[in-house]
Amino acid sequence: MINVAILGYGTVGSGVYKIIKDNNSHISRRAGDDIRVKYVLDLRDFPGDPVEEVLVHDVNVIMEDDEVDIVVEVMGGIEPAYTFVKRALDRGKSACTSNKELVAKHGAELLEIAAENKVNFFFEASVGGGIPIIRPLIECLTVDHIEEIQGIMNGTTNYILTKMEDEGADFDTVLKDAQEKGYAERNPEADIEGYDACRKIAILASLAYEKQVNFEDIYTEGITGITTDDFKYMKSIGASIKLLGIARKNVGITYSMVAPFVVYQDNPLYNVKDVFNAILVKGDMLGDVMFYGKGAGSLPTASAVVSDIVDAVKRNGYTASIHWNRQQRILGGVDAFTTPFFVRVKGRGIEDKIRSAFGEVQFIEPAGEIAGEETAFITKVLAGSEFEQAAADFEIISRIRVSN
Ligand code: HSE
Repeated sequence: MINVAILGYGTVGSGVYKIIKDNNSHISRRAGDDIRVKYVLDLRDFPGDPVEEVLVHDVNVIMEDDEVDIVVEVMGGIEPAYTFVKRALDRGKSACTSNKELVAKHGAELLEIAAENKVNFFFEASVGGGIPIIRPLIECLTVDHIEEIQGIMNGTTNYILTKMEDEGADFDTVLKDAQEKGYAERNPEADIEGYDACRKIAILASLAYEKQVNFEDIYTEGITGITTDDFKYMKSIGASIKLLGIARKNVGITYSMVAPFVVYQDNPLYNVKDVFNAILVKGDMLGDVMFYGKGAGSLPTASAVVSDIVDAVKRNGYTASIHWNRQQRILGGVDAFTTPFFVRVKGRGIEDKIRSAFGEVQFIEPAGEIAGEETAFITKVLAGSEFEQAAADFEIISRIRVSN
C-alpha cells in the first residue's frame, strides 16, 4: 500500500484526489502497488465533501507519519510549499508538485535533497499543465543537444491573443471577457506580463542545459502592448502573434526570453489557439518535436501530478537521474538575441530612410484606417542592439520580434 498526502485542496489538489479515487484500480495496476490518499491538508473545512474523512489542518500529522510515502504539494507559491517539500524529502518521502514558482527557484536544490534521501522530486505539472514535457525532456530526448525550445506556455494570454485576432476586439475588452469566463485571474499581472511563462521557460531551460537558469535573468515582455492594428498587419502577411517562452543555445551561449512573437503559418505553434499550450523542441538529431494539450485546469494538471506519483512508486527507492545542477547558467543578453523584427513607424514615403537604417526589409501595406499615417516592415535577422541602433531615428509605433 502506498500512502499519499495532498497538501492543498484547491483546483489541482481536488483534481488529484478525484483521479486517485475514480481511476484507482487502473492507477494502482500501472504503479504496481495500491495507492490511496491518506491525508489532505487544507486550512479550510469542506462540510459534506468526502474529503472530510482524510482532511487534516496540521502538516505535522503528515510529516511525522512514516506510513506516508509520497507528498503532493499543490498549494502554489514559495512558502510554506518550500519548507514542506524539503521537510518531506528529508523524512524520506517522495514529493510531486505542480508549483512552477517553487520548481523554478528551488528545483536544483530539491532534486539534490531527494537524491540524498533516495527518494524522488517530480514536477511534471509545473510546465504545460497536463502536457507531458518534463519527462520526455529528461528521459526521451537524452540523445540530442537541444538547440531551441519555443513554447506557448500560458493559456490565459493565448486565449486573449486568439480572441483579439479572431474577433478584432481590443486587449482590455478581451481581458475583461476572459476574467468573466474564469480564464484570467482577477489580478492578471502574472499572466499578461509574462511572469508565469518566465518561470516555466526557466524550468525547461535549466533541464535542457543542465544548469540553473534563474528566472530573474530572463528578459520578459508581456502582451499588454499588442493592439488590434498589429493583428491587421498579421492578416495581410498570414501570420499570428503568440507569447513565446524561448530558450536557445547558439555557439555555446544560452539565451532565454519571454516576449510576443510574430509566428508564421509554417511554424506548428501558429495553430495553437485559445487556452491550449504547446512546446516545440528542436533537437540536433531529432529535428522538431511538439507537445500540445491543456496547459491548465483541474483534471489535466492533476493527471500530470498523478503520473508523477505512479513514476515515484515504480522507482521504489531509486532516484531518477535528472541533470539540473545548482550552478548558475549565465545567459547571453537580450542585445545579442537575434531575430527579424516586425516594425511600425510613423510617417509615409520614408522607404529609403528605412532601408538605409535597417538594410533590406520587406514592406507591408498598411491596413484600413491606419493607411496614410505609418509604414510597416519586417527586417532581416538583427541582434537586439542592432535593432535599437537602427530604430533610434524613427518614431516607433510598435515592434515585435519574429520567430525564426
Ligand atoms: N495562469 C496559468 C495559465 C495557469 O494561464 O496558463 C497554469 O500555470
